[in-house]
Amino acid sequence: MALAEVNEQIKNCRKCRLWQDAKQAVPGEGPDNAKLMLVGQNPGAEEDNTGKPFIGRAGKFLNKVLAKNDIRREEVFVTNIVKHLSPENRKPLPDEIEACAPYLETQIKAVQPEIVVLMGKVAWLAPRVEGVTYMETYHPSAAMRFTKMKKRFEDDFNRLKKLL
Ligand code: URA
Repeated sequence: MALAEVNEQIKNCRKCRLWQDAKQAVPGEGPDNAKLMLVGQNPGAEEDNTGKPFIGRAGKFLNKVLAKNDIRREEVFVTNIVKHLSPENRKPLPDEIEACAPYLETQIKAVQPEIVVLMGKVAWLAPRVEGVTYMETYHPSAAMRFTKMKKRFEDDFNRLKKLL
């Protein structure tokens, strides 16, 4: 399935309860042939307002780490395992993750990235597609808050740069 088609399905999705409190779905953004895909948890308020992933505080921190490693964000496909915001920013529930994860799988199959970076525990649950290299790191909002996690997060992106 083409990326545009799965993104359209995501925008109209009613498979779990989350769409009810959201302004819109955030399918993700980036080239449909990106070599690198970054996956977070789910959109927050700013992402819900704009329909774009990782544009709030965590996104700004992520942008800095990408820039430091000469990774151009415009060349990366950025998305989340769950495509709608959750009420009061709570963690997505297991049934919400289960309902949404197949969209990510379809996106990975459409984009065919070499590397998928799963950021944070919820993203670590992402479906694995054969032939794709997966890397697990912390979520940028945790990494920006805690020194040890920040160091590991930055080291992981440094390692990633060398893999690309
Ligand atoms: N946090 C996420 O996990 N994803 C976003 O898109 C923004 C914040």
